[in-house]
Amino acid sequence: MPDDPSRSRRWSQRTDPRTAVRTAVVWDLLDALAAERGTALGRPLDVVDVGGGTGGFAVPLARLGHRVTVVDPSPDALAALQRRVAEADVGGRVRSLQGDAGELVGLLGEDNADLVLCHGALEYTDDPVLALTDARAALRSQGLLSLVVPQRLGAVLARALSGRFHDALRMLDDPQGRASEDDTVPRRFDRAEVLDMVDGMAIRAVHGVRLFVDLLPGALVDSDPDTTAALLQLERLAGDNLAHPELVTLAAQLHVVAQRP
Ligand SMILES: C[S@@+](CC[C@H](N)C(=O)[O-])C[C@H]1O[C@@H](n2cnc3c(N)ncnc32)[C@H](O)[C@@H]1O
Repeated sequence: MPDDPSRSRRWSQRTDPRTAVRTAVVWDLLDALAAERGTALGRPLDVVDVGGGTGGFAVPLARLGHRVTVVDPSPDALAALQRRVAEADVGGRVRSLQGDAGELVGLLGEDNADLVLCHGALEYTDDPVLALTDARAALRSQGLLSLVVPQRLGAVLARALSGRFHDALRMLDDPQGRASEDDTVPRRFDRAEVLDMVDGMAIRAVHGVRLFVDLLPGALVDSDPDTTAALLQLERLAGDNLAHPELVTLAAQLHVVAQRP
């Protein structure tokens, strides 16, 4: 059967973090703040993506001209990153280092980054406070920390709506926000706790990510372009809504951007 170009275009939109429904809201904010910082500095940014995995954000940032260092403990993820970097032809602007969150200063020194990303990685660290202290120390003055973490209440809602009431009950009270000993996510966070951890930095943005997407059947999420666009717009407005700020705490993830003084 001949390839349908509109289908492959839709597929690439679903997997590109800039347009995929699950990540586009994060990308929008990151793109705007990175552009603002780049303009202020008059040069491309030095970015560190800790727990950057296979480069979902690192590669688009490198495409924009920024220099990105991905720090991740997984050799498999770093190998996949190298393949993605080669395909995108951004090899000169992306390097990878094997390491954990909490080791940035040891690996890269202090005051070396304009932007540190920590997306979907803080929950895997043994000591999140230490990891964020290290990330902050790796930043230059006025540098930005972009933090994406799983939220307790978003997960409680998702478990309850799928009928897993015992899991939801345990998550509500569990100090780590876990559903059970077998929970694949080692830790979930509350909004106040995350803001406490970046105390001393200026908060530039706080918004909820994936409020509806994670509660919907996949067929509705990857639907026709019109429906997908409406869902994305709903995610954008609900995740950062001054009139209804309580919606933020119910999203699957919290995205906080903080700036070092
Ligand atoms: C869910 S993936 C997120 C990948 C990427 N940041 C993103 O947003 O698509 C989690 C990543 O965190 C990495 N990771 C696990 N433990 C870590 C640690 N202690 N420090 C830093 N990264 C870690 C994993 O290897 C994996 O690449």
